[in-house]
Amino acid sequence: MTESRKRVAILISGRGSNMEALIRAARAPDYPAQIVGVFSNKPDAEGLRTAASHGIATAWRWHKDYPSRTGFELALSDVLRLWRPDIIALAGFMRILTPEFTERWKGRMINIHPSLLPLYRGLHTHEAVLAAGDKEHGCTVHFVSPGVDEGPTILQARIPVLPGDTPDTLAERILVEEHRIYPEALALVARGAATYPG
Ligand code: GRF
Repeated sequence: MTESRKRVAILISGRGSNMEALIRAARAPDYPAQIVGVFSNKPDAEGLRTAASHGIATAWRWHKDYPSRTGFELALSDVLRLWRPDIIALAGFMRILTPEFTERWKGRMINIHPSLLPLYRGLHTHEAVLAAGDKEHGCTVHFVSPGVDEGPTILQARIPVLPGDTPDTLAERILVEEHRIYPEALALVARGAATYPG
């Protein structure tokens, strides 16, 4: 199994709790993917320390050191060339990627977003759900396409919005679901059971 497992690079910007969920899932001998490296666009991302504590290779390139998005992505691509990932998993990665980069990784790059896409792209999804008075909320794992938080859905999880919910309580309950569905979705992609349509 080990040799046939897909190689996965995870891109983060911060805490890295979804990253850690993927690292833990990939420890199972029958999991179809292995985590070969964790990259951050921020030198001080907490997730880098967590990844290193799991014995995973880490690298960072601070996006502010590069004059353009393309320059930063060239540096990122240099790191990826070393790690040779088959799949990129974005996990709280807070940089917008160029259409050239997303096109190159089309069908091989996935993201997790804390809303029931196509509802509520971008930031502050929990606030938006409460302001709209929605009865349910959730999270989505999707293939990355050039539009931010767009692209074909792989898996979603739903939770009810309860009386008294705040952005923090919603975030907390949704994170539990994120940690459940992200490893499932990555496994689907790694097995070829979920593919980019068309
Ligand atoms: C998660 O809510 C994820 O859905 C969003 O950013 C957050 C990252 O959290 N894209 P973590 O860094 O995985 O803990």
